Amino acid sequence: AMAVFVTRRIPAEGLRVLSQAGGCRVQQWDSEEPVPRAELLAGVAGKRGLLCLLSDRIDREVLDAAGPGLKVISTMSVGFDHLALEEIKKRGIRVGYTPDVLTDATAELSVALLLAACRRLPEAVEQVKNGGWTTWKPLWMCGYGLSDSTVGIIGLGRIGQAVARRLKPFGVKKFLYTGSCPKPETAAEFEAEFVPLMRLAEESDFVVVTCALTPATQGMCNRDFFGRMKKTSVFVNTSRGAVVNQEDLYDALAHGQIAAAGLDVTTPEPLPTDHPLLSLKNCVILPHVGSATYATRSTMAVLAAKNLLAGLRGEPMPHELLL
Ligand code: NDP
Ligand code: DGY
Repeated sequence: AMAVFVTRRIPAEGLRVLSQAGGCRVQQWDSEEPVPRAELLAGVAGKRGLLCLLSDRIDREVLDAAGPGLKVISTMSVGFDHLALEEIKKRGIRVGYTPDVLTDATAELSVALLLAACRRLPEAVEQVKNGGWTTWKPLWMCGYGLSDSTVGIIGLGRIGQAVARRLKPFGVKKFLYTGSCPKPETAAEFEAEFVPLMRLAEESDFVVVTCALTPATQGMCNRDFFGRMKKTSVFVNTSRGAVVNQEDLYDALAHGQIAAAGLDVTTPEPLPTDHPLLSLKNCVILPHVGSATYATRSTMAVLAAKNLLAGLRGEPMPHELLL
């Protein structure tokens, strides 16, 4: 039997795919909490396959612990910044991931977070509970709306496009985007204009970050970037926390350099409950729930299991990350 290690409790549908497959012997860290490093190193030893999550750092140490028998890594995520791809490639290990199936859920959450931040929803809900709501006041709890706005998308990939598609009917006037190169065919749907990062910062009323975390995007949204944004603009990040310099974001929010921010991702995760960003009224922070619908998580688990099985059998994967 082909031995595999699954690093967490995952939706039952995914595990069923593995248990019903002939010739697959599953060892699992059957917990809601991440596998401790020592258990990961022990669990992966001698395995042929690994099904992991974005919270598992799969580096040289893990690959060494697995040994030369490891043939396939399947991550239940579309992001792969937690995988040491160079090292994985060197060893001829195949990688599966879960693009597309979480695009709608993550784009929907991005829009929810944008609206929560620009219309100050958590603050408003709090006012109802704490008696701050005394009467209807013309100047109270005002925010910024999407009508006639300019929206800048950093990374017009699968999720970035799905966000733009959802925002367009709100009356957005103009879409801007950045990336490694212009994508005229993709951008045509939104009549989106490819611009340098700093111009996107200067002209956008809403900045939405949906790029992958890479050496080029790490720390990209920093003091210079926020300094170029308008005082009335709103910043939203649903990609990875490390794309943002959080100290610089804190300063920009605390000093009114930008109006508000919505973050679904932070560094670290979880964000410590005494983190300065949590003291700001104009910062809405969610616990990395972009893909968190029941249906999407179930589909992700099934896809991750199918990728793993295909890799074990030497067949084409439903979604292989080509290294
Ligand atoms: P895609 O690969 O389709 O899109 C990634 C985009 O990043 C591409 O358009 C790419 O543009 C862009 N990008 C790469 N380098 C740069 C750069 N230097 N500057 C600007 N943009 C750049 O991936 P998805 O849309 O499917 O997912 C995007 C990311 O979202 C994932 O990598 C993951 O980290 C995150 N994610 C977060 C979730 C959450 O729960 N919050 C859920 C799902 C995903 P180009 O092609 O021009 O290089
Ligand atoms: C991913 O898949 O990369 C997300 O961050 C979680 O769904």
